[in-house]
Amino acid sequence: MKQFEEKKFNIGKLKGFSEKTIEEHLKLYAGYVKNSNLIIQKIEELSQDTEKNAYALSEVQRRFGFEYNGMRNHEVYFDLLSDGPTPINQDGELIKSITYLWGSFDKWLAQFKAIALTRGIGWAMLYFDKKEKKLLNAWVDEHHLGQLQDCTVLIALDMWEHAFVSDYAPSGKRQYIEDFFANLNWQKVEEILLKSY
Ligand SMILES: [Fe+2]
Repeated sequence: MKQFEEKKFNIGKLKGFSEKTIEEHLKLYAGYVKNSNLIIQKIEELSQDTEKNAYALSEVQRRFGFEYNGMRNHEVYFDLLSDGPTPINQDGELIKSITYLWGSFDKWLAQFKAIALTRGIGWAMLYFDKKEKKLLNAWVDEHHLGQLQDCTVLIALDMWEHAFVSDYAPSGKRQYIEDFFANLNWQKVEEILLKSY
């Protein structure tokens, strides 16, 4: 079976996020790629005797959503931090949709930031619902619990502590969120949206 491959990202100097944090964080991402491949291999091995390995098989299978979404969420996160920050296109489809749904960009942003402050580990997400052709904000616990089916992730903001505690104190979550938006390449968000229609 074709293996998942670790992607490379062109991440330059970022506001607030140290090079060391990004370096360590990319190692964690590599771990999710490795484990997604490993789980598929383990499932194949255990499937040689599904009766004998029934319990192990279901436990390993259950972990796949965690590892796979851990891999994919990080790919969106690092991609959005790549190639330097760009502002949101004031005439683009994204801001039109946001303004239509939330009334203003600032209202949407305030709501998104509040979601990002959800207690516990997980992700603040902006999705594009392909069936309804509309945007949705959401919180995802861990990497996988609460992912919205058949929706495209436009923004993935990592709210696990490993993403920010070495640069910000644990109480510095708000500043980390602010800096994420200062570092964000909005052009890429717009491109993902346009590809998702
Ligand atoms: Fe992470």
